[in-house]
Amino acid sequence: MTDENGALPAMDIIIAGGTLVDGTGAKRLKADLAIGGNRIVSIGPAGAFSGKGVKQIDATGRIVAPGFIDVHTHDDNAVLISPDMTAKISQGVTTVIVGNCGISLSPIAPHDPVAPLTLLGERAAFRFSTMGAYAQAVDAARPCVNVAALVGHSTLRIGALADIGKKASASELDLMRERLSECLSAGAIGFSTGLWYKTNAAADMDEVVGLAELLSDVGGVYATHMRDEHDGILDSLYETFETANRAQVPVVISHHKCAGRANWGRSRETLPVIEKARAKQAVSLDVYPYIAGSTVLEPETVDPDTRIMVTWSKTHPEMALRDLGDIAREWGCSQADAAGRLRPAGGIFFQMDEADMRRILSYGPTMIGSDGLPHDINPHPRLWGTFPRVLGHFCRDEGLFGLEEAVHKMTGLSAKNFGLTDRGVLREGAFADVVIFDADTIIDTATYENPVQPAAGIDHVLVGGTVSWSAGGHTGHRAGGFIRRG
Ligand code: ZN
Ligand code: CU
Repeated sequence: MTDENGALPAMDIIIAGGTLVDGTGAKRLKADLAIGGNRIVSIGPAGAFSGKGVKQIDATGRIVAPGFIDVHTHDDNAVLISPDMTAKISQGVTTVIVGNCGISLSPIAPHDPVAPLTLLGERAAFRFSTMGAYAQAVDAARPCVNVAALVGHSTLRIGALADIGKKASASELDLMRERLSECLSAGAIGFSTGLWYKTNAAADMDEVVGLAELLSDVGGVYATHMRDEHDGILDSLYETFETANRAQVPVVISHHKCAGRANWGRSRETLPVIEKARAKQAVSLDVYPYIAGSTVLEPETVDPDTRIMVTWSKTHPEMALRDLGDIAREWGCSQADAAGRLRPAGGIFFQMDEADMRRILSYGPTMIGSDGLPHDINPHPRLWGTFPRVLGHFCRDEGLFGLEEAVHKMTGLSAKNFGLTDRGVLREGAFADVVIFDADTIIDTATYENPVQPAAGIDHVLVGGTVSWSAGGHTGHRAGGFIRRG
């Protein structure tokens, strides 16, 4: 990259001696990277920039990759109240997509949140009646990572509907459409549903299409936690494809899984169905690399055949980290009744089959998203471990896919599907979101019993050219902000 006089641009940081895995899926190559301001200004052969740049980072023996994009998060409030974002930056994540599963902090006036909005925080968190106000708050907090936002259907419904248990009336739909449009103008990248949750379940396809169709003009994306990830998984996939097709929008199937023992092995059915749909319309999906899920614990979602670990309970905090089955036996009641007595509460649900998860993870179009819950005292280990687990455990140790493909699933593919311009790839002109890691030692250390543990093997993380994480700790410099669509 040279200017009109053929001169090289100013170089602030040179990352030298490393092996580049550029995020596109292309084969790795030895090269040096020059950063000027918040962009990559040049990539050249080893030694090409020696003597240039104010700062040198030695990447000898290391992989240099685009910063990871966590496409499925509930970090809406975390980026404001814990801007260090240690759980994410310590894994090499430089961008989080918030507002998944139909729940987002905006646009909703101050409100006592009900489950599942409680996953994002308590009343004080819900103070942004417009996406513009939320975006401003993100920029003011200057979190360690960048933030791109989806608008949640449950949030819109709670703000507009007289009865959340019903389908929206024409005037309620109009109000939601108006608010979604405002959010999109303020830079939101798309819209999400969580049709499985009771705040969203009464919405039919017409209601979802009535909102999702607003995305097509602006190039937004529709992400969905589908109505049924258990026995009705195929019907939910068909509903998803038809909804997106009617709305003429690209769709992301969130945290794809075949949940419940009776459905183990059914990724052999779902992936071919997804593949077939992909021939006709834009469909992608994400997954987290664990066989347990985690969300709010409600009596109606307790399946006695699934082991459930309680992560927190407002009424019985002493029951955290214990199995619901044991609590129910001790109390002499059903697991559903125990869940009711623990409420409000959260749980980890061991409901997936390892072979399904591996099959979904290995599928080419699958992206990586943590679905981590940042406000749990005992969070599912996916919050701290997702990305190093894919790179260390599933790529290196288990050989499910090559390193180039693993990195692509968490960078270039993610940026493309969510419309994040100039991110997810290492090339001249792209944002200098960069992670430098040791492919031989990178690994997650967070476990179900001890979940708050930074990963091993991450050397440096740069966000927009700012070295934000280095040698196992924060550098004290935060450089993230709100990413507007386009
Ligand atoms: Zn979800
Ligand atoms: Cu989620």
